Amino acid sequence: MAKVVAGNWKMNHGPAVTEGFFERFRPDANAGSVRLVFFPPDLSLAAGIGSARVPADFGVQNIHWEAAGALTGEISAEMAKEAGAALALIGHSERRHVFGETDAEVDRKVGAAGRAGLVPVVCVGELIEERKAGRLEEVLRRQVGAFRASLGAVEEFMVAYEPVWAIGTGETATPDDASEAHAIVRDALGSLGRAPVLYGGSVNPANAAALMSAPDVDGVLVGGASLDPEVFARIAEAGAAVGPG
Ligand code: 13P
Repeated sequence: MAKVVAGNWKMNHGPAVTEGFFERFRPDANAGSVRLVFFPPDLSLAAGIGSARVPADFGVQNIHWEAAGALTGEISAEMAKEAGAALALIGHSERRHVFGETDAEVDRKVGAAGRAGLVPVVCVGELIEERKAGRLEEVLRRQVGAFRASLGAVEEFMVAYEPVWAIGTGETATPDDASEAHAIVRDALGSLGRAPVLYGGSVNPANAAALMSAPDVDGVLVGGASLDPEVFARIAEAGAAVGPG
């Protein structure tokens, strides 16, 4: 399976900047052997889809579990699909820790993504206190356990392991840390454990190849380093150089 190189732009890049990004985003031709995914803000989704010059899939950063209704400010999985999204990030660390999203809500969103035919990219990861207290495995099993049953109705999905202490801090998990956590996620997924498991948290062009070469790491979910087209192209090239597997 080709490595997945995904960029989560968070609340950055409006439509005009998005078009400018794709004018300058020119990874080497061999980077065609990675699966590129972009998660722009919803308002930039159409600009991204319309201006990407390389094969890439697009997704949204969050969905609500209802299909429609009086829910000001929310978007549904069905709307995202209609607007051209193929994937949806669900339960990102910032959704969980800044906006108070719960395991139960994450589970409902996974179900909604499946119903609409979106590929859920479900995020899990421990806080630094949990890691220091030796609770990594317990936390990951709890988080995966909360949505595992809903994956039964989903055709395709991914999990992103993003240790909260490594997000936006410049502190990266070592390849061994990532492998250890990914193996726990796979085990917790049981019979569904062959799905891609991505690593996220301060990925950059210097550490991307080592992380993607680590056992059980199927790709990367990149925040800050995905915002610059030249920098993100180098991460895509690193994934292509590592090759499938
Ligand atoms: P950074 O790469 O900026 O640490 O963000 C990681 C992330 O949250 C991707 O979803």
